[in-house]
Amino acid sequence: MKTNTFKGRDFLAETDWSREEIETILDVAKELKTKRAIGQAHNELLPGKTLFMIFYNQSLRTRNSFEAGMTQLGGHAHYLDPSKIYTPAMEGQEKAYSTERVSDVARTLSRMGDAIAIRCYGDPVNWEYGGAHRMLREFARWADIPVLNMEDDVYHPFQGLADIFTVKEKFGGFKGVKFLMSWAYSPSIEKPRAVPQSAILYATMMGMDVTLAHPKGMELAPDILQQCRTYAKQAGGSFKISNDFEDALKGQHVVYPKAWCATPLFQPPIGKADEKKTQAIFDANKGWICDEKHLALADKGAVYLHCLPCDRGFEVSNEVIDGPQSAVFDEAENRLHVQKAVMSLVMR
Ligand code: CP
Repeated sequence: MKTNTFKGRDFLAETDWSREEIETILDVAKELKTKRAIGQAHNELLPGKTLFMIFYNQSLRTRNSFEAGMTQLGGHAHYLDPSKIYTPAMEGQEKAYSTERVSDVARTLSRMGDAIAIRCYGDPVNWEYGGAHRMLREFARWADIPVLNMEDDVYHPFQGLADIFTVKEKFGGFKGVKFLMSWAYSPSIEKPRAVPQSAILYATMMGMDVTLAHPKGMELAPDILQQCRTYAKQAGGSFKISNDFEDALKGQHVVYPKAWCATPLFQPPIGKADEKKTQAIFDANKGWICDEKHLALADKGAVYLHCLPCDRGFEVSNEVIDGPQSAVFDEAENRLHVQKAVMSLVMR
């Protein structure tokens, strides 16, 4: 295992990392999960270290898994609410005595702690697709310490890591695993695309046979799709896109239906530029729900994944998410282990 190339690196997008490096992270996550399971302390890994967490959006899993993770590694995670500090803002978007330029925040926090983690998408960047990811890259440009992406408007790289870690646990590896990332209906049209984009990037990078399914109008970003095709070719897997939910479900081993909002049809900004058109697509596709009838189309041993929170009764039925094929709480727990792995590697 080669771990000396990790120290000090940012974790902003899975595409910045090689397959070999991602496999190393999964190995470390497995080791840390085992240590925790047998009650072996590992608080010697990041003693006295501080992670600053800036949350522009709400969170249950991400905040608590990073915070608990830092405690378990011997350090401390510090929660920062952008509305209670001078809100970090990009040059040109500043307001006197209300915001602080990203470059100044990044350099200040770099003098006091050991990593900066940020969640930002949607309203804080007016739903301008890519705006939040650009802000994270700007933080990384100025910070002398690692910057970690806790979900922006393009990538959710820690969720994707937990997703593939869960797949590896359930199927023992990736070769031959049929992975379906599907759109699902939600009463809310304001859902970012980071989770599905990261899920298909990781799944193709690992060489799974990946299907992306969605109604017409719910396309993901073209550069992400192109990268998936490249990964599938490199890793010996496959990647295809379907607009037929029931057909896409057939024979799948991993079933991951989740709502996201429209683009590039209605961008910029996504979802809000033409709410009526977006709402019309959502309303016309209420049948995209992962219920028992739909899950039965998948392989008998299929597992159901969702990043959570889910919209019960819309994206998924109670019977499926609470049923024997659901792995959503393993998946949520695995956020803790993969994040601890990355932090212990980059924050040393
Ligand atoms: N899956 C996920 O990121 O959950 P939270 O929004 O609760 O952090």
